[in-house]
Amino acid sequence: MDPSTASDVLTVNGGAALSGEVRVRGAKNLVPKAMVAALLGHGTSVLHNVPDISDVRIVTGLLEAHGVSVTRGDSTDTLIMDPASVERASDAAVEAHAGTSRIPVLFCGPLLHRLGRAFIPDLGGCKIGDRPIDFHLDALRAFGAVVEKRPEGLLILAPERLRGTHIRLPYPSVGATEQVLLTAVLAEGVTELSNAATEPEIVDLIAVLQKMGAIVSVHNDRVIRIIGVDRLGGFTHRALPDRLETASWACAALATAGDIRVVGARQGDMMTFLNVFRRIGGDFEVDDNPGDPSIRFWHSGGPTHALALETDVHPGLQTDWQQPLVVALTQAQGLSIVHETVYEQRLGFTEALNRMGAQIQLYRECLGGSACRFGQRNFQHSAVISGPTKLHGAELTIPDLRAGFSYLIAALAAQGTSTVHGISLIHRGYEDFEGKLSALGADVELGAAR
Ligand code: EPZ
Repeated sequence: MDPSTASDVLTVNGGAALSGEVRVRGAKNLVPKAMVAALLGHGTSVLHNVPDISDVRIVTGLLEAHGVSVTRGDSTDTLIMDPASVERASDAAVEAHAGTSRIPVLFCGPLLHRLGRAFIPDLGGCKIGDRPIDFHLDALRAFGAVVEKRPEGLLILAPERLRGTHIRLPYPSVGATEQVLLTAVLAEGVTELSNAATEPEIVDLIAVLQKMGAIVSVHNDRVIRIIGVDRLGGFTHRALPDRLETASWACAALATAGDIRVVGARQGDMMTFLNVFRRIGGDFEVDDNPGDPSIRFWHSGGPTHALALETDVHPGLQTDWQQPLVVALTQAQGLSIVHETVYEQRLGFTEALNRMGAQIQLYRECLGGSACRFGQRNFQHSAVISGPTKLHGAELTIPDLRAGFSYLIAALAAQGTSTVHGISLIHRGYEDFEGKLSALGADVELGAAR
């Protein structure tokens, strides 16, 4: 969408404490991948708790282009996927999705098993670093696939049935781990993946694959073992709740001195975040009601505290929690340090916060905690935040999904009016966020103020 169109702009009048209830549905970083898994099965798959976000629409389009029927169930958050008539998509239909998302690369394994061929368009996704796919391609080659780079995308061929293999990832990449899982389950023989990522969304994907008939075991020390099978069926699954969206609402409660109950949120996947939230000075209360769990987040009333944080792979502090926490830390007393170790360029969004009155200084050195991969590579990947600072409204352009929602939090915590451009990026991962913000008492309006 053109960032200048009225529907892509949100006017935010800051200053109100957000208060009330919002619902989170299935995780953006699981749902599209479970949809790709449906392509591996010979039966119909049913996925519950599906959010209405643009990443889901992109994967729906790609599945349909490959002959998979995708329909909504009686409940609108249920998707029914029938891969009975899988066929080769036209290159044009695939290319239409170029630059929209990272998910298309995960179609490789399922398409190679079903059709012996996968055409993958140029990838999109958030611009938070280089985001190469070398681990993915090396893994596919290890299974026996042949990768041809073409100007319009990647053509990947499986001259014969893919074979199980031993792979050691150079870094515990979420996407590459999913690539290996989605390929190994139908490969011949055993695959052993070392240095795998073990995020809760990956464990949920493994649960989906197990329901389909796959044999996957997760061992100590980041080793995942997959015994390939000849055939998989469909699945019925309820996606785990979105722990990243939940944390965003928690930080909105903290930064605006508000009180938000996030219905659908689950404590188990968020313990690292909850510890940080409490140490900063936020309060929370977990309701384990099995039918409808929730976590209520609020500002404790006293001063909030500066902190040293370092992002890491699970079970460390998730990198997608970093941006909303940085906004909350602009209101904390003292000097906070944030060391981003997962993406080399995920602190650029702080420049706009400084224009709003924050005091955030970026450094190339690894500050606080351990030395990381980026320390010697000239990337500004550490931040020192002095707080508390009074924020004021500004004209903002959203650079990526999580930074985008964090700009909204900053605009809500600020005095005055902000104009936020490019909000369609937030629709990639936050269902009906404008409606939820209004329900919490935020003064927001689509379009620029007149
Ligand atoms: C997933 O991205 C998520 N995206 C990201 O969320 C999340 O931040 C990230 O995992 C880390 O948890 C989706 O699930 C769609 P990675 P992914 O492979 O899989 C390097 C959001 O806003 N790397 O774990 O692409 C890479 O550059 C998004 O919800 C290679 O070098 O992340 C990065 O530094 C943003 N070569 C690190 O590994 C490769 O082939 C981790 O990336 C692959 C990755």
